[in-house]
Amino acid sequence: MTLTVPTRKPPTTTESVFSVSGLWKVFGPKPERVPADPALSALDPAELRARTGCTAAVRDVSFDVRKGEVFVVMGLSGSGKSTLVRCLTRLIEPTAGTISIDGEDVRAMDKSRLRELRRHRAAMVFQHFGLLPHRTVLDNVAYGLEIQGVGKSERRERAAEFVAKVGLEGMEKRRPGQLSGGQRQRVGLARALAVDPEVLLFDEPFSALDPLIRRDMQDEVTRLHREEGRTMVFITHDLSEALKLGDRIALMRDGRVVQLGTPEEIVGSPADDYVREFVRDVPREQVMTCRTAMRPVSSDDTGTGPAVRPEATVAEAIKAVARAGEPARVMDEGRCLGVVDHGQLLGVVAGVDADTAPAEAAAGTDAHDVTATADATAGGSATETAPAPEKTAPAPEKADPAPEKADRVLEKAARGRRRQAAPPAPRTSPEGPRTSPEGPRTSPEAV
Ligand SMILES: Nc1ncnc2c1ncn2[C@@H]1O[C@H](COP(=O)(O)OP(=O)(O)OP(=O)(O)O)[C@@H](O)[C@H]1O
Ligand SMILES: [Mg+2]
Repeated sequence: MTLTVPTRKPPTTTESVFSVSGLWKVFGPKPERVPADPALSALDPAELRARTGCTAAVRDVSFDVRKGEVFVVMGLSGSGKSTLVRCLTRLIEPTAGTISIDGEDVRAMDKSRLRELRRHRAAMVFQHFGLLPHRTVLDNVAYGLEIQGVGKSERRERAAEFVAKVGLEGMEKRRPGQLSGGQRQRVGLARALAVDPEVLLFDEPFSALDPLIRRDMQDEVTRLHREEGRTMVFITHDLSEALKLGDRIALMRDGRVVQLGTPEEIVGSPADDYVREFVRDVPREQVMTCRTAMRPVSSDDTGTGPAVRPEATVAEAIKAVARAGEPARVMDEGRCLGVVDHGQLLGVVAGVDADTAPAEAAAGTDAHDVTATADATAGGSATETAPAPEKTAPAPEKADPAPEKADRVLEKAARGRRRQAAPPAPRTSPEGPRTSPEGPRTSPEAV
């Protein structure tokens, strides 16, 4: 599997747009009895069908879609993805559970409120965009605005803006039949964007496209998301698409969410054998980040290696380390959070845990600080930027050391080395820090 995952900082807000709890959608006779009866709701799909004639397409699903994130719903065909996303705006009526958008109960909405929800707040982009064949590109894009009652000149102006935004300038007067598949997808995308919805809901929009056009469209979504920060719910059964686009991914199986987490959490800590099997062929170095791969700073570190960002992928760090020939420092806003060296990086590629620098390695002058750093690591601040997701495997254990502590360790280590390097330095302890005779090349404060 080849994969190019963009490096990006996930949105830090935890404010929810959609909030879903205990959601069920059962198709078949007397569907309400399934979620209401623990004996029925515990049955596997085949047994449930045999006993009741019902299909539970969505089973007791709970999640939040956070403002500004791309929330991907992934799973094999028939796992319940489309049913789930259609329930969000009640294009399919849920059987049980709660759904809210910005705190408003979606299941309690009357017809006109629902219409408003679908037209203004949550625009759906389908696999086949359903363009109107006799209308021009511009009028297709303006269609959603027309339904909203926007006046002709304003809607044409706004439509032209979005036609340009998706790269179709000059094609305003064409009809859908005169466009390629990828161009038609762009028209659909522009139409959804033009109504300025709070959330864009995509149901496998690119699955009918050939791979190159598909990649183009994925890049387009990434670009639009970066530029506009719009909240998106994106359905796909393609793992590489999910990993590329998703800030978080809900992985579905037989109507249930079996794991919900960042791409890194799904690949790095699969919740069960099913997920493990699902992500087996993923090139881990393209997904795992330095934040997870790093180890605490030790007194052996010179503090001179190349700087990488915590969100940089391991693949990027491998390049930096290979070029520099020494471990890289994981830097965030001028602070060193930790270090990635050959062992750490190879460990990620191989899917095994590399040894973290043992505290003893820094024994002597810095033992106290290193221990403190290691302690801070366990409850580190990685969870602040990527809060522990619902229903997911425990976060990878190697997280941020407290940055100030890491800086202090580097600083003290450098001081120690300077002392050691100054002849005639009396050896205070046989286990004293191993230092290079030249001492540090730059001071750690310089990083
Ligand atoms: N109207 C319906 N009546 C009965 N069963 C249905 C209905 N719609 C969907 N299902 C069943 O619900 C399950 C989930 O379907 P859904 O369309 O949500 O899957 P999906 O994950 O979107 O699949 P795909 O990737 O093929 O689009 C399937 O078993 C499907 O057969
Ligand atoms: Mg579907």
